Amino acid sequence: MTLLLDEIAVAASRLAQAGVESPRTDAELIAAHLHGVPRSQLHLVADVDFDPRFWDDIARRAAREPLQHITGLAYFRYLELEVGPGVFVPRMETEVMTGWAVEQLAAMDVAEPVVTDLGAGSGAIALAIAQEVPRAQVHAVEADPLARQWTERNIARVAKAAPHTAGRVTLHAGDFAAMLTELDGTVDLVVSNPPYIPVGSWVPPEVGEYDPATALWSGADGLGAIRVVERTAERLLRPGGLVAVEHAAQQGPAVYWIFAEENGWQQPRNHTDLAGRDRFVTAAWHVAG
Ligand SMILES: C[S@@+](CC[C@H](N)C(=O)[O-])C[C@H]1O[C@@H](n2cnc3c(N)ncnc32)[C@H](O)[C@@H]1O
Repeated sequence: MTLLLDEIAVAASRLAQAGVESPRTDAELIAAHLHGVPRSQLHLVADVDFDPRFWDDIARRAAREPLQHITGLAYFRYLELEVGPGVFVPRMETEVMTGWAVEQLAAMDVAEPVVTDLGAGSGAIALAIAQEVPRAQVHAVEADPLARQWTERNIARVAKAAPHTAGRVTLHAGDFAAMLTELDGTVDLVVSNPPYIPVGSWVPPEVGEYDPATALWSGADGLGAIRVVERTAERLLRPGGLVAVEHAAQQGPAVYWIFAEENGWQQPRNHTDLAGRDRFVTAAWHVAG
């Protein structure tokens, strides 16, 4: 055993006592980030190279600061994004919805599909679509000025790593309810991971104390922002255009009915995440005639 592996074992049990969900993984990822090695090579770090700041980072994680705030990085599909105070940490659940959007756009018979991401946060969805659908023009809307600093930073970061995304994600500042009127009736796909947690619900400390409130809460039933996304998508989409909106696991039936046929939508459909829980709804805006 090396010194680092011994310290990781102690750290993992300390994180477990603090209620961290994946203590061993988090201890290893913190060690790998700090020592600048892949997780698979932690056993190769020489004892003299052990960095005692490891224990500062473990103390932060034991106080339930999110792993991604400690490393400053979040991974989303094929992207490495910067995150920290003031921005929502992108989640794995959202990768599935983004994958659905990528597949639909790839199959669309449109030269340069126009996409809007309502509530951009770190830019995860908008940038993944720009990276994976090289023809897409993506308009990302974000109301929160602190969050927008991270969106801008990630747009610039991804443009360096994937130059084909440069200039294809445009960030718009403001409330998506009233934004992008110049695109009304022309958008091919609207995607959104809006706030959807009912006010007063319990959330873990990593979420409640670190994700911004504007990214989490949305009225007594959690559906307020999703209703606004529905009205905004109706305004923005061309006939036959598509919408995808994320929601909480228990909201599947309610969100399905928000996108019901009597509201002008076609083929509303519930989709599950990787854990098999209801996670997003898609629908097509009606084709005239
Ligand atoms: C749950 S986060 C999602 C961020 C990112 N799209 C993702 O999936 O990781 C929701 C984001 O929507 C933003 N937001 C909430 N209501 C908004 C509104 N009415 N107009 C614009 N942005 C809004 C929040 O500030 C937050 O950044």
